[in-house]
Amino acid sequence: MDALVSLCKRRGFLFQSSEIYGGVQGFWDYGPLGVELKRNLKDAWWHDMISGHNELVSPAGAPSTFEMVGLDCTIIMHPQVWKCSGHYDLFHDHMVDCRESKKRYRFDQVRGRFVEYQGKKIFVSTLAEIEQEEDEVRRRGMKFFKLRAKNADELTVEKESLTLDKLDSTENVLAPDAKALGTLTEPREFNLMFKTTLGALGGEEDTTFLRPETAQGIFVNFKNVVDSSRVRIPFGIGQVGKSFRNEITPRNFTFRSREFEQMEIEFFCHPNQSQEWYRYWRDRRMAWYTKLGLSSESLIMREHHTEELAHYSVGTADIEYAFPFLPEGEYGELEGIAHRGDFDLRSHMEGKLDPATNPMTVELNEHGKPKHRGSGKDLAYRDDITNEKFVPHVIEPSAGADRAALAFLCEAYTEDEAPDENGKMQTRTVMKLDPRLAPIKAAVFPLVKKDGMPEVAQEIYGALKEHYNVFYDAKGAVGRRYRRQDEAGTPYCITVDGDSLTDKTVTIRDRDTLEQTRVKIDDVVSEIQSRMKAST
Ligand code: GAP
Repeated sequence: MDALVSLCKRRGFLFQSSEIYGGVQGFWDYGPLGVELKRNLKDAWWHDMISGHNELVSPAGAPSTFEMVGLDCTIIMHPQVWKCSGHYDLFHDHMVDCRESKKRYRFDQVRGRFVEYQGKKIFVSTLAEIEQEEDEVRRRGMKFFKLRAKNADELTVEKESLTLDKLDSTENVLAPDAKALGTLTEPREFNLMFKTTLGALGGEEDTTFLRPETAQGIFVNFKNVVDSSRVRIPFGIGQVGKSFRNEITPRNFTFRSREFEQMEIEFFCHPNQSQEWYRYWRDRRMAWYTKLGLSSESLIMREHHTEELAHYSVGTADIEYAFPFLPEGEYGELEGIAHRGDFDLRSHMEGKLDPATNPMTVELNEHGKPKHRGSGKDLAYRDDITNEKFVPHVIEPSAGADRAALAFLCEAYTEDEAPDENGKMQTRTVMKLDPRLAPIKAAVFPLVKKDGMPEVAQEIYGALKEHYNVFYDAKGAVGRRYRRQDEAGTPYCITVDGDSLTDKTVTIRDRDTLEQTRVKIDDVVSEIQSRMKAST
């Protein structure tokens, strides 16, 4: 992971936000290569889910044909949206404060191990990365018990790594930045929505929030979409956009950020068909990741147990990836596919429903009135053929663009051996990104900066640039130019050499196989096009 993080900075995939001022935790900027990667990822999602969907054909595994449309909603919405969605009351994590260091931690994310010295057992916690956790726990345990290196054997560190929420009490916990035991407060709820104020007056009634998910913009526009685009159920609405969560302990590179992008679909269907659609979307979304290059050994589909599900839901599954910063055998969520029943549309219509009631009824306040009033608008759907009126059920495949980008970067990072310009084998770092995702599709090099080679290379570059993001490089030894493109994940390098001027051919080098093929200059564009097409 350290090698990947350093490559991301060195080659301009990712930078810490506001780095020159010391950075700000949980915020990341995408550099020139990163922005192309993330854009390609979002474009692939938009194409594969929305714009490229053929509503006249029923895809394999789908119960029927269906339509897909898109939306782009605002980040700041009416405050009532978040009251009816449940985020105002329920969108929180548990945090603990350390009375000694005055730091705040997320209860379920601080890890540690029990250590024992002369019959006294304490729990030493740390925020260290997983590979360093055991060493760090030992180091802090030694310091706590004032042990010298020669007495290291007298301290035992348990193998099992636990998070704080798994402990019965925090009495004997050494907090991550504390010197004494038992300095953590009881866990408290902390709402993750970022507050902001509308207008210049800034009173409490002007408070609103940056959206913590893109989904709600879709629900509140359901009627607008039905009325304006004549879509018929079953259909889905997709949206890609920024979401904000004031995460207590943002960590693991971009995995848990405070500002991130989501790619969400709300798929509206007849209640009788919702189980089949749930299964369809779960499987289709899993296949999307493997098709774009995530290995199936590193991906799992984790179905939630029935006791984890709301009673109105027939299922929720998480697509999880074995990120290298997680302990062996643990996976991090890339996407959740949830059956949400009619909870959202009815809440925005009638007032926030109480998900614990069955059948669900509007949650009431102490005066017997709706705790959070709905819009009062009729969000039911009338089927114009059967004339049946119903509130559709919703299947929600909700993915994170930044998490997916991180997973593809982790999967792509490879170290192998390749010959240098003298034929000597050298270790090379290569980002084996799927060509669709690769920031640069091809690089064009004149072998040397003379004898007419740059002119030919520039012509090829200009022709390719009309179709793809390509890169021209005439500086330095050609071997070093290949290495730079390997690190950027560029699938094809085109070299103009001495022969090119006489036989009008160039070499195309394949990043993964290192195979070099001679191709006619006139055929370069079509050759790259056909190789790119073969990868979709
Ligand atoms: N509308 C449902 C929803 O928002 P979620 O599981 O909270 O569900 C969906 O979020 C996806 O958004 C996650 O699977 C993850 O990929 C991404 N995501 C959530 N919180 C994130 C964070 N703090 N940083 C980066 N990505 C995040």
